[in-house]
Amino acid sequence: MLVRNSAFWRRGALLVLAGVFAAGCTGPGIFETKNVAARKGLNKDVAARKGLMKSIGKTWKAVKKAAKADDNKAAGKASGELYKLSGKISKVFKNKGGKSRSKPNVWTDKGKFKQRAEFLAVSAAVFSQVHSKSGSKAMVSKGVKNIGKNCGGCHKTFRAKKKKKM
Ligand code: HEC
Repeated sequence: MLVRNSAFWRRGALLVLAGVFAAGCTGPGIFETKNVAARKGLNKDVAARKGLMKSIGKTWKAVKKAAKADDNKAAGKASGELYKLSGKISKVFKNKGGKSRSKPNVWTDKGKFKQRAEFLAVSAAVFSQVHSKSGSKAMVSKGVKNIGKNCGGCHKTFRAKKKKKM
């Protein structure tokens, strides 16, 4: 009995270790997020969602910059990237984790939150596949605006205002 028990625990510990290992190996992104979280003392769920939003912010800037420079091919490519990133929003907002600028309704109104993330994904995909290839400046700028509206639309409902530093 004792022996069986200890074997069980050994196996259990191995499984736990394997789980940790697998989690750490899902990609450099996850590792980085964890390190940043540790350094800043951030909760890992908060760090993951902030990390994704930061990448989304960077990619969004790349879309705007390329569109402004009339490099529609690059804008379309960046927007395709934005589409992929928006597909991860619901996942990183699954657990509340620690406190952050996410409003409580992110977790009480999940359907609407998910829909907002889908709006962004769709507008990014349409920009990438249609607007950026249209050869029309008006279409490109309309497409850029559409994406921007979907960032703002979600932030307005689900993100708390920045606290002023005192
Ligand atoms: C589905 C909702 C949703 C969409 C769509 C969305 N965001 Fe966010 N975003 C949030 C929430 C909620 C936060 C607050 C995260 C927190 O502090 O927990 C946030 C935070 C951010 C942050 C701050 C990250 C940090 O370091 O604290 C940036 C930058 C950002 N968003 C950029 C964007 C851009 C650019 C877009 C559009 C291309 C976008 N977001 C679309 C919900 C969204």
